[in-house]
Amino acid sequence: MRVLGIETTCDETAASVVHCDDEGRGTIMSNAVLSQIAEHAAYGGVVPEIAARAHLDMLDLVVARAMVDAQCDFTKLDGVAVAAGPGLIGGVIVGLTTAKAIAMVSERPLLAVNHLEAHALTARLTDAVEFPYCLLLASGGHTQILAVLGVGEYVRLGTTLDDAMGEAFDKVGKLLGLPYPGGPNVEQQALRGNPYRFTFPRPMLGRTNPDFSLSGLKTAVRTEAESAAPLSDDDVADVCAGFQAAIVDVVGDRVSVGLSRFRERFGEPTALVIAGGVAANKAIRATLERRAADAGLKLIAPPGYLCTDNGAMIAWAGIERLRLGLVDDLGTSPRARWPL
Ligand code: KG4
Ligand code: ZN
Repeated sequence: MRVLGIETTCDETAASVVHCDDEGRGTIMSNAVLSQIAEHAAYGGVVPEIAARAHLDMLDLVVARAMVDAQCDFTKLDGVAVAAGPGLIGGVIVGLTTAKAIAMVSERPLLAVNHLEAHALTARLTDAVEFPYCLLLASGGHTQILAVLGVGEYVRLGTTLDDAMGEAFDKVGKLLGLPYPGGPNVEQQALRGNPYRFTFPRPMLGRTNPDFSLSGLKTAVRTEAESAAPLSDDDVADVCAGFQAAIVDVVGDRVSVGLSRFRERFGEPTALVIAGGVAANKAIRATLERRAADAGLKLIAPPGYLCTDNGAMIAWAGIERLRLGLVDDLGTSPRARWPL
């Protein structure tokens, strides 16, 4: 089984061909990702209109790249998967319309994938994780702890009450004058900073519901940064280290509580899994590895390039759905909001 996956929900134009053998093992045959970071950098964040136009300009090329790299053509596909939401609607429309056109001319089924579901299932492509597992999904737009019980069967155990984790990283990066996107740059700065110089709050620590609240932490960082201004390079590194240390403590605590709630409701998970762009953060991975080990579990963390947005995760989610006969109509609508 071979599926093309298309991703255009945010600021990555991506396409990939993934193959699945009879035993259900996936192989990534190509993975073309064109980042729009340069286009958005001047604005310090993703500008939806610019994103939509850039997807429109580049998607055909990115799809062609993925097909050539995989030495594949449309007639060799078994399905065309696309992230039909949630995300910035202009980009979603570009991806979905393109996928529909390819599905139509090649007479292959359309697989309209939820972008969050694709993040949630990536660990089954990379590590063949069995259901049910406990998932921390942390990206620029979402932060959730989920029980992943099967394809299409997700129970939300906890969520953020305000900012998403990637959003908190990005806002802290922006207020410190770091390049966009903040996440990887804050992590980079934190490596050489002193995490003990600034002590930031650890919101929600110890609460019995595995929810997050990150806007107060971001505000505390802003207040501290403003009072210490002008910031030297070392000050910036110390603020980043202090902020990341707070996030790490919060994530560890919240996920441990999430695992307890999981066990009460669904029994033993097969693993703790992380997904979404923030899962690329090494400090967060390290703390979750310890928390998983404490709970007698393995942490499954897909490689960084499959944690941030990509077409392979969309193709794989399409394969999971196609194997269950879950195909979509060419009349499927794009969805800006689409909770799991
Ligand atoms: O999943 P993703 O690529 O796109 C969304 O669906 O949102 O996640 C992007 C988010 C951004 O907020 C980015 O700053 C964050 O993930 N991110 C990181 C790291 N790499 C990406 N956050 C912290 N540390 C990182 N290394
Ligand atoms: Zn994403």
